[in-house]
Amino acid sequence: MNHWFDGFSRIHRFEIDSSDKVYYRSRTTCDGVIEKIRETGTGKDITFGQQDPCQSMFRKLMSTFHSALTTQSNSEGKVRPSDVNVGVTLSTNLAGLPPTTDNTIGYGGIRSLYAKTDANVLQALDPETLEPVGLAKQGVLHPSLNGQLSAAHGCHDHVNGDFFNYNLLLGAGKPTYRVFKVDGKTNETVILATIRDAPAAYVHSSFLTEKYIILCVWPAKLAHGGITVPFEKNIVGSLATWNNSDKATFYVIDRTTNGRGVVRKFTSKGFFAFHSVNAWDEGDDIVMDIPIFDNTDVLTKFYITNLMSTNSDAKKWVGKALPQLARFRLPNVTTRQDSPNIPSAILEYKKTNVNFELPVINPNYAMKPNRYIYAVVDRQKSTFLDGVIKYDTVNHEQTFWEDHGHTPGEPIFVADPNGKDEDDGVLLTVVLDGREEKSYLLILDAKSMKEIARAEMQTRVQFGFHGTYHGNL
Ligand SMILES: [Fe+2]
Repeated sequence: MNHWFDGFSRIHRFEIDSSDKVYYRSRTTCDGVIEKIRETGTGKDITFGQQDPCQSMFRKLMSTFHSALTTQSNSEGKVRPSDVNVGVTLSTNLAGLPPTTDNTIGYGGIRSLYAKTDANVLQALDPETLEPVGLAKQGVLHPSLNGQLSAAHGCHDHVNGDFFNYNLLLGAGKPTYRVFKVDGKTNETVILATIRDAPAAYVHSSFLTEKYIILCVWPAKLAHGGITVPFEKNIVGSLATWNNSDKATFYVIDRTTNGRGVVRKFTSKGFFAFHSVNAWDEGDDIVMDIPIFDNTDVLTKFYITNLMSTNSDAKKWVGKALPQLARFRLPNVTTRQDSPNIPSAILEYKKTNVNFELPVINPNYAMKPNRYIYAVVDRQKSTFLDGVIKYDTVNHEQTFWEDHGHTPGEPIFVADPNGKDEDDGVLLTVVLDGREEKSYLLILDAKSMKEIARAEMQTRVQFGFHGTYHGNL
């Protein structure tokens, strides 16, 4: 394993009960993939092959996509639920998808648990044991969702349960993005927009407001419309060379079922990004927060040799390929425009000194103007991540939790059910104590960023990507 994104998926669960005890369990969810490597004695099929250095580097980058795209089968030709390596995001009780347990009340209220990635595959997990129990493609939601790629991060409307995402059908001519909605009440899926004028690109998330879903196709372009992806069997191996003159395009799509498809397009200087933070309607404008990168160099930075402090290569990357918090405004979305030119998105700010990723907010403030963003931060105090930040978007103050040599993972915001302020709640984050080489679950007061409690472990938890909180209050 050479790259952060290249690990074998393992799901970790922490259960905090009312007596202040914390229970932990974990399960590897790609046993079939590991077994295949043992059987064949080679990792060739899942990107460990020794190719030319550049290709090998990229091949190793995205095994997550690779095995998902190929859907491995064992020597008897059967595809088993653990024959894929899917573990970027987790969704509980996702609209449109069947339960993943026979238990009618689920486990702690979780009736379905799905692991997702940026390919068109969904891995069903038993919500109690975390055992893989099934595989599905987005075609189960709607027959036209037959493209190879998608975003690991769909958009959830926490108010009504609606779920949004896109599906990308690769092709040398016109790659096709289908932006869809799964209705939280009826479980029906509708195609909101079909986009054929955008290049095939690696897009990991999108934006949701109360009126619109906004798909931003930034220029992380796949060469030849992505037709080499099935051959390369990964996404990043198929990325075209970054071109600084390429633009990003924002597609603003009416999210109502009887909508108008793409309402308006906006363009901006090209950038790369992973994760949108939040978006909201402001009159006829849309406001969006997102950490952005100047290009895709960060994908190379995320080689493990470039991240581990014990490796001299890591020092070369310190301070480079950093995310910078950006706020975009899309003005006058519905104003009739006679010019054939695509209007520009307004970059209200790009904070070169605000270098955080894996951003979260109080989920009750999704689609509303929110003030606080929480994330993991790189202040060059380490070769990877060195703290948890609370960023105030009003006065631009930064508050940190940090402990030198301790590396936190994505914080998860749990709102205080009786809270009044946006920052009434706690943050949950799994931290590696680099000196002891052990992990702990840390609970921070989201207002003060002070520690409330921690549950220490006798082992290490690998750095994954994203988690989800399910309350059973
Ligand atoms: Fe992500």
